[in-house]
Amino acid sequence: MTRRPMIAGNWKMNKTPAETRAFIEALLPQVDAELACDLLVIPPYTSLDLAGRLLADTGVRLGAQDLHTSPSGAFTGAISAGMLDACGCAYVLVGHSERRHVFGDSDATVNAKLRAAIAGGLTPIFCVGERSEQRAAEQTTAVLAHQLTEGFAEVAATEASDVLIAYEPVWAIGTGETASPDQAQDAIRFIRNWVADQYTASLAEGMRILYGGSVKPNNAAELQRQPDIDGALVGGASLEPESFLQIVQAAGRGAS
Ligand code: 13P
Repeated sequence: MTRRPMIAGNWKMNKTPAETRAFIEALLPQVDAELACDLLVIPPYTSLDLAGRLLADTGVRLGAQDLHTSPSGAFTGAISAGMLDACGCAYVLVGHSERRHVFGDSDATVNAKLRAAIAGGLTPIFCVGERSEQRAAEQTTAVLAHQLTEGFAEVAATEASDVLIAYEPVWAIGTGETASPDQAQDAIRFIRNWVADQYTASLAEGMRILYGGSVKPNNAAELQRQPDIDGALVGGASLEPESFLQIVQAAGRGAS
């Protein structure tokens, strides 16, 4: 089965609405309609409504960085799946490393967010990854299995088939230290095997699993050449249209 690669740009806490407009207006004329991969931008909440309007009817999709577990209510500062959908979001990150390790999202919270995203009609990109000391202690696969088991608790196969997974080793995020293509491939193969064991081989075979962590124009093609890597979740290098598009082009070469 051929899985269509996705290149996603997670802007994190960067860009005002004016900067978002400038980025999208620079990006769109350069996006090739024949592109061999899906393109996704993930701005901060304050830019989503504008980005949704600018990206409507283009080939570039919109995602959000997080969501609350409830559809509405007394949750000051929080944003629900329905609000994201109304801004034109089709995707949402769930369990990003910074949500887990900076904001303290527990496995139970991440599971509730995954289910809230699915219930709200959004496609979740479920993020997993080990810390450097866990890799050093050879606990990588145990950590991934734990995050997957907890995260997908009570998620049925019909729901899981719409989820994307992103493998983002914590030690590679924002550090310039990318996982080697072999390390990324091994971890993503492990994740795919976990999905096959938990659900079915065909669901696992169809699931898109991205790599994230210091993806740059100069390493994207080699990562994308690995058989189980279906694209990239890019942080820093997604903030400029030029480097984002270079990664898109590199991924296209890797895929071909
Ligand atoms: P960097 O590409 O800046 O390492 O960030 C990766 C990331 O966390 C994307 O979600």
